[in-house]
Amino acid sequence: MIDLTSMSKPQSVAVVGASPKPGKIGHTILNNVISSGYGGKIFPINPKEEEIAGLKAYASVSEVPQPVDLAVIAVPAARVLDVARDCGQAGVKSLVVITAGFKEVGAEGLELEKQLVETCRKHGMRMLGPNVVGIIDMHTPLNASFSATSPQKGEIAFLSQSGAMLVAILDWSTQVGLGFSKVVSLGNKADLSEIEFIEDAAADPNTKVILCYIEDIVDGPRFLDVAARAARQKPVIVIKSGTSQAGAQAASSHTGALAGSDLAYDVAFRQCGIIRAHSMTELFDLAVAFAKAPVPKGNRVAIVTNAGGPGIITTDNVEAKGLQMARFDKDTIEELRANLPAEANIYNPVDVLGDAKADRYRFALEKVCADPNVDSVVVLVCPVGVTQPVETSEAILEMCKKFPEKPIFAAFMGGESLAGGASMLAKAGVPCFTFPEPAVASISGLVKYNEILETPRDDGTNGLPSFDCKGVKAIFYDVIKDNRLVLLGSEAAEVANCYGIPAAPVVLATSPEEAAEEADKMGYPVVLKVASPKILHKTDVGGVKIGLKTAEEVRQAFTEIMDNVHGYMPQAVIYGIEVQKMMPKGTELIIGMTRDVQFGPLIGFGLGGIYVNLLKDVTFRLARGLNTREIEQMLRETKAYTLLRGYRGEKPRDIEALVDTIRRVAALVNDFPEIAEMDINPVFAYENGLSALDIKITIS
Ligand code: COA
Repeated sequence: MIDLTSMSKPQSVAVVGASPKPGKIGHTILNNVISSGYGGKIFPINPKEEEIAGLKAYASVSEVPQPVDLAVIAVPAARVLDVARDCGQAGVKSLVVITAGFKEVGAEGLELEKQLVETCRKHGMRMLGPNVVGIIDMHTPLNASFSATSPQKGEIAFLSQSGAMLVAILDWSTQVGLGFSKVVSLGNKADLSEIEFIEDAAADPNTKVILCYIEDIVDGPRFLDVAARAARQKPVIVIKSGTSQAGAQAASSHTGALAGSDLAYDVAFRQCGIIRAHSMTELFDLAVAFAKAPVPKGNRVAIVTNAGGPGIITTDNVEAKGLQMARFDKDTIEELRANLPAEANIYNPVDVLGDAKADRYRFALEKVCADPNVDSVVVLVCPVGVTQPVETSEAILEMCKKFPEKPIFAAFMGGESLAGGASMLAKAGVPCFTFPEPAVASISGLVKYNEILETPRDDGTNGLPSFDCKGVKAIFYDVIKDNRLVLLGSEAAEVANCYGIPAAPVVLATSPEEAAEEADKMGYPVVLKVASPKILHKTDVGGVKIGLKTAEEVRQAFTEIMDNVHGYMPQAVIYGIEVQKMMPKGTELIIGMTRDVQFGPLIGFGLGGIYVNLLKDVTFRLARGLNTREIEQMLRETKAYTLLRGYRGEKPRDIEALVDTIRRVAALVNDFPEIAEMDINPVFAYENGLSALDIKITIS
């Protein structure tokens, strides 16, 4: 882990480009450093000034007579390199480069940025930026930014790749009373990126929650490693804008076409334990939830409401978010029955009725919170004449104190008439919304995090045998020597065999006679398939004949396939015809791989066969770190799983063998980055074992 002390807790700060003129960025930065209450030494740097803001100014950093830990640079882009060199020579440890006009403006800017990074490397300096608003650490305290707003001190670390988003959030945060431990504008991420700052925030005792707004990730594997570790220390919530190139890149395989553009991020975040927010509102709702509320032990939610409709909507929402409506204990139900009006609903959602005053809420809440089958509570308050918003808020706060292990979220569904109660809750740190959906979404985030914490780490390599890597290499070598990138079916089956993936026997024949001989050896019935790297979808060109029972049928089918393919694709080079043992029919599945530029291979699994693109019953995981538990979860997400477990009286399929095969496919594609794409479609699943019928591998 890198040490960012010189950036967030420096002993001394130089502001290069510090200006006495109000309205200049260098002026705001110096002002922010001073007014944040920073206790270290501050050196304004400006060749034209003797003194700025009452502090002695220097013409350059190298003229400062004392060591400088951090230099914040706000001079025009053309001068930044010289300033950075000067900082390097003066022994500065860290740079924050505010200046814009680098990579984001084109080739010239990119070149300048490269030179800036080289200068930093040469002098052992670390750099945030360029093109940033700056960095704020509220616990140092240090505000080395040109933000107009200084945030409140709190427990949220906020890392943002968008400077505009960052300043907007800071401005809003003071209105809603949200506090930050750290705020980092990531900018062009030429040196330091979200990876280092996530790691730093995870280790920071003042940070309880890490929030990130990111547009891209530079180093996928390292990001996943760091994020997976951080997520086990504290919640990491990410909003990611833009889409990856994965889908666009990989359209020729079924798996690639099904993966879609943003899927890799979704899968990667989930696998490493990051909670993904899909809107800025959700990001900050979750931040408040994690900063203020305890993490519930489970997913059972109770609702207490004074109106039926909102109770039902919230119930629907609980179920839609994969949470469970709590089923109360017998005692809880009896107590509620004995003490609430006869018209009240005593089952979940508890309806204390429209005429409920604070004492009725207090009673119902206390019973519900005390119930061992309840993990979290949503309180809904709708304004009617007798509603006591402030007193009801007091009752909620009492329950928060009495049951500190159970999160209580409120939705005060109204405006002005409920404002007093709602703001009392917000001030006391109890998440209070206008409508129930964000309350339920926040609970869902907390529950997900609890699951992350309870899941043991396992990189998926446990218990895997060693594979015949040399065998695979030799096959790839031959393919490349033959000037091809697509493996023939017989070659792909050999690759599969090297990794213990159960491929149906297949051999290449170059004449009708040879095909018939191979079929005789293999035993009938057999299937014949054209072998041509140019033809990915063989059925479409009449390149497949199935159920051949005699040598004569095989010879005839050989000739027919050749004629068909020559007719459809006269230019295609045909290597021969593959003779494959006709396997008994099983449940048709697909196992495939497409490679994401950021996160590497993605394994897809689902219903296979020719309708795979139509049915789209496919789910994905990163091959990296894919373990048995994740594979089982992956299977459960598909409709195929219902078939595998035995549908309408059919015998269950060999799920264990399937999990094992997916692990082996993941191992193969992890071991061989040269495999660009892979589809096994169909894989037949039987009561005992599997058979991979058609394996397509493309290398790069
Ligand atoms: N060392 C120290 N000070 C220097 C210097 C050097 N080598 N060269 C110039 N300066 C001083 C200037 O004299 C000036 O001081 P003054 O205000 O007293 O005249 C000050 O530094 C700033 O230089 P100036 O030429 O006036 O630039 P500027 O303030 O107009 O613009 C930036 C500088 C960095 C603000 C501008 O280039 C920029 O990048 N703006 C965009 C910032 C941004 O949006 N960042 C991303 C946010 S998401």
